[in-house]
Amino acid sequence: MGHTRTRVGVVGYGYWGSKHVRVLNSLPDVEVTVIDSDERRLREAMSSFPSVRIATDLADELLSQDAAVIATPPGAHATLGLMAVRAGLHTLVEKPLANSVEEAEALVSAAREADVRLMVGHTFEYNPAVWKLKEIITSGELGRILYIDAARLSLGRYQNDCNVIWDLAPHDISIVSYLLDEVPSTTSVWAHHNIGTEHADVAYVKLDFEHSGAPAFVQLSWLHPEKIRRVTVVGEKKMAVYNDMSDTDRIRVHNVGVDPKQVDEDASHGFPVSYRTGDIVSPYIPFQEPLLVQDSHFIECVRTGQEPRTPGERGLDIVRVLAATDVARVTGAPASVGGRPGLVPTGNGRVAAGGVRR
Ligand SMILES: NC(=O)c1ccc[n+]([C@@H]2O[C@H](COP(=O)([O-])OP(=O)(O)OC[C@H]3O[C@@H](n4cnc5c(N)ncnc54)[C@H](O)[C@@H]3O)[C@@H](O)[C@H]2O)c1
Repeated sequence: MGHTRTRVGVVGYGYWGSKHVRVLNSLPDVEVTVIDSDERRLREAMSSFPSVRIATDLADELLSQDAAVIATPPGAHATLGLMAVRAGLHTLVEKPLANSVEEAEALVSAAREADVRLMVGHTFEYNPAVWKLKEIITSGELGRILYIDAARLSLGRYQNDCNVIWDLAPHDISIVSYLLDEVPSTTSVWAHHNIGTEHADVAYVKLDFEHSGAPAFVQLSWLHPEKIRRVTVVGEKKMAVYNDMSDTDRIRVHNVGVDPKQVDEDASHGFPVSYRTGDIVSPYIPFQEPLLVQDSHFIECVRTGQEPRTPGERGLDIVRVLAATDVARVTGAPASVGGRPGLVPTGNGRVAAGGVRR
């Protein structure tokens, strides 16, 4: 590329974009330009990171960057992502990749045409605790997986342009899809809008996985008194709890289980099952900041041309699931991922009738 240093434009210096700037700025031979349409945000960036360049518009920076990170609200991901990709920049787009399946598809095909790397910011797929949890599942230690339960709750940051599912569930959908090596095939949703915007702020999402057969239940809320980020994997032999809020024991493996009683046992006394109880073990997980792992991987992909672990196609898969949650929410019935005749998810939490001939 003619430059020994990798030039990255981070678009959007808000809550999350500022973290990208911090980690990218800490990497060797990376030159960061902060791009934000709000000049106050740029002044803050300058005072926290005096070595960064600043700009107000990605369009003016296309010729002076090798790569872009799009960390604006999701409504702008597709427009800015397409602009970057078409200008030949390797591009990391925050989750969700886009606000609709059509936009996500456009990003994926534009990246293919321009032969640039497109990556989606599924941070939890770069989280050593999630890797450890997958290792535990794959080793067979838990036995057959019966179900997964996930919760992402807090007094959250209400978003203007999407509901709580599009905001928070990309994480849980990407985590459970990664753990089970499979994208969900069907989803059912209960969601409710309590406060403020038109968008649901509390939701319960069920995800069905065809091959593994284990459902995942995801609870999401911007309206909850406690901050909870937890994934529980219930296996036939053991159960594992991943608590992302814990500093010391993010994963605990509980050697507990329940077995059906033998038929010849006397069922008139006690429980219809027998219980197994045992140790709770917390494996050591070296601390590595997931965003640093993720952004280092992105820079590596930019430099070597290798395909990212979470390519645009992965982002598109998750957007397809999110779009199906829109259909399920509106119809009250399970929706298959990939669409359902007669109802077209338009993204952004909305569903339009028509569009498909019967
Ligand atoms: N991976 C994660 O764990 C994680 C966590 C939080 C947020 N996010 C994602 O990060 C993105 C940003 O979220 P946030 O909470 O930081 O939002 P935010 O509202 O705090 O910040 C967005 C910033 O983008 C700027 N902006 C908007 N449109 C722009 C444009 N066209 N050009 C230049 N700048 C523009 C705004 O001025 C603002 O400074 C979202 O996509 C969100 O889903 C990811």
